Amino acid sequence: MSFTYQNLQSEIVAASSDDQFAQAVLEGLSRNPKRLPSWLIYDDRGSEIFTEITQLVGYHPAQCEFEIFEQQKQVITDILPKDAFRVIELGSGDGQKTHILLKHLIQSKLTFDYVPIDISEGAIKDLVDFLKSRFSQSSMSVTGLAADYFDGLQVIREYPNRRNIVLFLGSTIGNMELPAAEQFVGKLQQSLKPGDYVMIGFDLMKHPKTLYAAYNDSTGVFERFNLNLLDVLNRKLGANFSKDHFVQQGHYNPKSHAVESYIYSTRKQSVFIEALEKEFFFEAWEAMQSEHSYKYTQSEIESLAENSGYRIVTNLFDEHHHFVDSIWEVKQ
Ligand code: AVI
Repeated sequence: MSFTYQNLQSEIVAASSDDQFAQAVLEGLSRNPKRLPSWLIYDDRGSEIFTEITQLVGYHPAQCEFEIFEQQKQVITDILPKDAFRVIELGSGDGQKTHILLKHLIQSKLTFDYVPIDISEGAIKDLVDFLKSRFSQSSMSVTGLAADYFDGLQVIREYPNRRNIVLFLGSTIGNMELPAAEQFVGKLQQSLKPGDYVMIGFDLMKHPKTLYAAYNDSTGVFERFNLNLLDVLNRKLGANFSKDHFVQQGHYNPKSHAVESYIYSTRKQSVFIEALEKEFFFEAWEAMQSEHSYKYTQSEIESLAENSGYRIVTNLFDEHHHFVDSIWEVKQ
């Protein structure tokens, strides 16, 4: 069976995504208060630190989703078609949770291919190598795509016609504002065929103290993760942020229904960004938002599915109902 990966990010696409990155930074730093979108954090290093986060006992979104995969892999398998299908994963990262499912699908002797799509080429390459080391004797083929999700889905349309199961796990959808999440699931529906499935991981609204604890670990990994954004800006845009002069904290905001991470400037300072030919000023203790992790209610999830052309097949919860993997079918 084949284990390959392809980088779909041509120089032209890379240049336009660099422009998009620079534009997002310019807009975010020109706002008052300053606010950068969550996706800027994920260079190869950001993805590596996020993998460390998913291993923290206190970071419940990852632990709950592991539990769902471990405990309910047979329920997922029973929903899947008996003829050949394709498992596509958007933002696969290190693919640890999916590994549990893939292993179970292989043991259940189902015929399927796995197509992980991730913007980080390093993450895709490592994942394909890892799967090859584990499953080279199985009937599963793996084609990793280093690509924007929708560019990847476009390419998959040219693959042999099979039922698709799209995984979008880890509550990554929570990093989008609600209107962007609606737009995203709508665009996803348009990229698929009637009868295809999607499985989306949502972190649910819960006790604010539980949320606070989940996003403020004592070992400082979250701070490293968020401050990595400053390294990304230095490297990609020629900025001169000094990480020593910033600190990070997460807060649950009842008005936005999201855990918001902020990077605080510990002093009055200015930062020059070469690529933008612009200087930005920070007051002492000025806060710049670096992440937004929306916490869903069940009725919001139902509306999201129904208003975007899906039928909810089932909802898989962890033991404490902190998290749900919701499985939807694209309507006829
Ligand atoms: C990737 N994403 C779903 C994580 C979240 O919970 O919003 C990113 C993260 N930020 C801090 N910890 C984890």
